[in-house]
Amino acid sequence: MRKLIAGMKISVDGKMEGPEGTADWVEAWSEDYGLMLQVDACLLGGGMYPGYEQYWTSIQEEPDKPVWITGSSPTPAELEWARFAAQTPHYVLSNTLTSALWPQTRFVRRLEEVAALKQQPGRDIYLVGGARTAASLIDAGLVDELRLILYPLLAGAGKALFATTTLRRGLQLRKLQQLPDGRVGLIYGTG
Ligand SMILES: NC(=O)c1ccc[n+]([C@@H]2O[C@H](COP(=O)([O-])OP(=O)(O)OC[C@H]3O[C@@H](n4cnc5c(N)ncnc54)[C@H](OP(=O)(O)O)[C@@H]3O)[C@@H](O)[C@H]2O)c1
Repeated sequence: MRKLIAGMKISVDGKMEGPEGTADWVEAWSEDYGLMLQVDACLLGGGMYPGYEQYWTSIQEEPDKPVWITGSSPTPAELEWARFAAQTPHYVLSNTLTSALWPQTRFVRRLEEVAALKQQPGRDIYLVGGARTAASLIDAGLVDELRLILYPLLAGAGKALFATTTLRRGLQLRKLQQLPDGRVGLIYGTG
C-alpha cells in the first residue's frame, strides 16, 4: 500500500507559523524532506490549498521574481518543486472548495477517499499540510510517517502544528539528521 507521508517545518515549541500567519524563520518552502523521488501525488487541506496554488503558480510563471511569503527570489529547490508540482496530481481535502486553477488538482470530500487513494497503485503520497488536515489524518491513522524539520527557535505565540490532534500516539524515531543553520531533520514512523 502507498504510504502517506507528512512533511512539515516547525519551531522547537511546535509552531508552524507566528501570530501574523507566516513562518518568517523559514527561508524557503521547498520540499526538503527527501520525498521527491518516492512520491507521485500530493494531499493538502482546503485551508492551505489556495495560498499554496498561488505561491507555486507565481514561481512557475515568474521564476525570477521575489515570492510573497518569503519576500525573496525562489531558491533552486523551490524552482525544482515548482516544476514537480506542475506535473503531479494534487488532492485537496475540502467540503467547500469546488474549483482550482491547476488541471492536475482533484477534490476529496471524506477521509474514506484518502484511505482509497492509498489503496491505488502508485508511489507514496506527500501530505503537504496544513495543520488541521494533518491532525485529522493522523488521528484517523492514515499518516504513516512524519518528516519534521525543526528550526532552532521558540516562536512564542502562533499556531501549533499539532494543536488539534486528540489522540495519544507513540512515534518511532527512524532518522535524525543534523542540518545547516542549527536545523534538525526528524523522521518518525506513526505505526
Ligand atoms: N510549517 C509548515 O511546514 C506548514 C506546511 C503546510 C501548511 N502550513 C500552514 O498551515 C496553515 C493551514 O492549516 P489549517 O489548519 O488552517 O488548514 P488546512 O489543514 O490546510 O485545511 C483545513 C480544511 O481542510 C478540510 N479538512 C480537513 N480535515 C478534513 C476532514 N477530515 N474532512 C473533510 N475536510 C477536511 C476542511 O476544509 P473545508 O472547510 O473546505 O471543508 C478544513 O477547513 C497555513 O497557514 C500554512 O502556513 C505550514
